[in-house]
Amino acid sequence: MQSTASDTKKRLLSGVKPTGRPHVGNYFGAMKQFVDLQEKYETFVMIADLHALNFIQNKDEMKTLTHELVLDYLAIGLDPKKITLFKQSSVPAHTSLTWIFDTLVTVPFMMRAHAYKDAIAKDLEPSMGLFNYPVLMASDILLYDPEIVPVGKDQKQHIEYARDIALKFNNQYEELFKLPEELIVADVETVPGTDGQKMSKSYGNTVPLFGTDEEITKAVMSITTDSKGKDEEKNPDDMVLYQIHKLFNSSEELRSQYTKGLGYGDAKKMLIKDIIDFVTPMRERRKKYEDDPKLVEEILLQGAIKANDVAMKKLQAVYGAVGLTS
Ligand code: AMP
Ligand code: TRP
Repeated sequence: MQSTASDTKKRLLSGVKPTGRPHVGNYFGAMKQFVDLQEKYETFVMIADLHALNFIQNKDEMKTLTHELVLDYLAIGLDPKKITLFKQSSVPAHTSLTWIFDTLVTVPFMMRAHAYKDAIAKDLEPSMGLFNYPVLMASDILLYDPEIVPVGKDQKQHIEYARDIALKFNNQYEELFKLPEELIVADVETVPGTDGQKMSKSYGNTVPLFGTDEEITKAVMSITTDSKGKDEEKNPDDMVLYQIHKLFNSSEELRSQYTKGLGYGDAKKMLIKDIIDFVTPMRERRKKYEDDPKLVEEILLQGAIKANDVAMKKLQAVYGAVGLTS
């Protein structure tokens, strides 16, 4: 058989839940890495729709959010000719493997998961889906034997679960799973939101990546600033505004302007312009795909075929290893 580039390249896998419009934190914390690394790695990028069901329980909303996320992925520059872009729900092996893992992991082990503990702390009654979330995520990852999984810092524990579950399986049965490593880029591991807390869809403190000019302006204008006097010297790295601004403009010149006491009003105007300049080519690409739903459908179909091919082989090996097939 002829060898292809994908035989020799290391693999990358990651995903985002279609639970709302991606924000600047999602982009710099995780999604940008998928684009930057798509040449170097054989890249699998997932729309984590089964995970999203824990949060979105409305048919039309789910369909819209899923479609929007596909457009976002393509808009940021993922090249469907180079990578495998697929919906998690198109690959049944993810849920099949989850069951196998469910029979291995214990309830106390799963009770240590942050998302579950947070729900309990808030007096919520977590669903089985939420409780099982890290096991499904371990399956997402382990089916593909990726070397790296680029994510933001809030996902670190989930990758640790994936490693622990892989080890447990490998020890109980046979060495089928590679232990995955997270790729967390230190500078952007937790991008702050407009209020200075972690930028998050659930905190209402986001700067949307694909917002309109008005939405971007509104978000930037709401970024928290303290009441320093004009021209007072400050360390830019202590300012939420600069922490967000430097993602779009990392020049020494900007930094020195902030150090010298650049007024917040002027800084915000500059940031709005920098964001809009940054996203303009992405918006254009997004429009191209938005206008061609057939092409988008075809991309997802090809992605599903490729992902199923890889995942089914792994699942068959697992079925063999546990004695479900001979
Ligand atoms: P989610 O929207 O929760 O599916 O997150 C998608 C990806 O974005 C995950 O890898 C998260 O870790 C990452 N992410 C979310 N919020 C932030 C943030 N404020 N800073 C850095 N990364 C983030
Ligand atoms: N749990 C991740 C998040 O909330 C999304 C996700 C699901 C994921 N499956 C994955 C990320 C597999 C990396 C690998 O952001």
